[in-house]
Amino acid sequence: MTPWLQSLRDWLSPSSPSPDAATVTAWIAKIRAANLSYCGPPKLENIAEAARLVREHRIRGSWLECGVALGGSAILLGLLKPRRVPLDLYDVFAMIPPPGPDDGGDAHRRYAEIRSGTSEGIGGDVYYGYRDDLHEQVLTNLRAFALEPARHAIRTHPGLFEATLRPKAPVALAHIDCDWYHSVRVCIERIAPALAPGGIIVFDDYSSYSGCRRAVDEWLARDRRLEQVFLARSLGLRRTD
Ligand SMILES: C[S@@+](CC[C@H](N)C(=O)[O-])C[C@H]1O[C@@H](n2cnc3c(N)ncnc32)[C@H](O)[C@@H]1O
Repeated sequence: MTPWLQSLRDWLSPSSPSPDAATVTAWIAKIRAANLSYCGPPKLENIAEAARLVREHRIRGSWLECGVALGGSAILLGLLKPRRVPLDLYDVFAMIPPPGPDDGGDAHRRYAEIRSGTSEGIGGDVYYGYRDDLHEQVLTNLRAFALEPARHAIRTHPGLFEATLRPKAPVALAHIDCDWYHSVRVCIERIAPALAPGGIIVFDDYSSYSGCRRAVDEWLARDRRLEQVFLARSLGLRRTD
């Protein structure tokens, strides 16, 4: 076992405290160096900030992610959470479903590229959506970071969110990274009512895809309980009541 993996195993004890900033930076660098995340360091740091706030304020509830791909941001969540807190990971674990009429040209152009078979993976790897073993690969990637799913209360939910996403309240932290309007809308409709007071939802694509921004803005126009905690590439919202 490498010293790095051993240090992660030592870290992931049942009562591990919140990590310090240098530790988080090192984890993010490792995840990025392994070509496992489409989220750049600023977005991964936002996830870490949301996790810090949720832990500091002792917000009770499960953590979840919608949009896992190769598992990069999920690994970060797994390392940041208290060991016994469940982490639920939702994805088709196959090619991303198509955008729809409520998405802009940005989403449709990106999807046309993916469908044409010419999308490049991170660092020149095969694009994850072209793999037929993506679910297995994500489990392997978690284990490479000392996160054995059963031992760390990590569960995967393969399938479309429309069919799989029924989160049980309370949810303390949710990371939504699924690009298109309809996917984001399903997530926010089902997660917001289950969010714990003080719980946080992070929208990875708020500044990246027009459909994500539209779905979030539509929800915010009618849900006054959510306040902004950060907006820097991704958007973090906290339930106030
Ligand atoms: C940008 S990737 C996620 C990136 C990942 N968080 C990372 O760290 O690189 C978006 C993922 O959302 C998934 N997705 C989008 N819409 C979905 C839906 N309606 N149901 C299930 N999965 C969906 C796609 O299949 C894809 O794996």
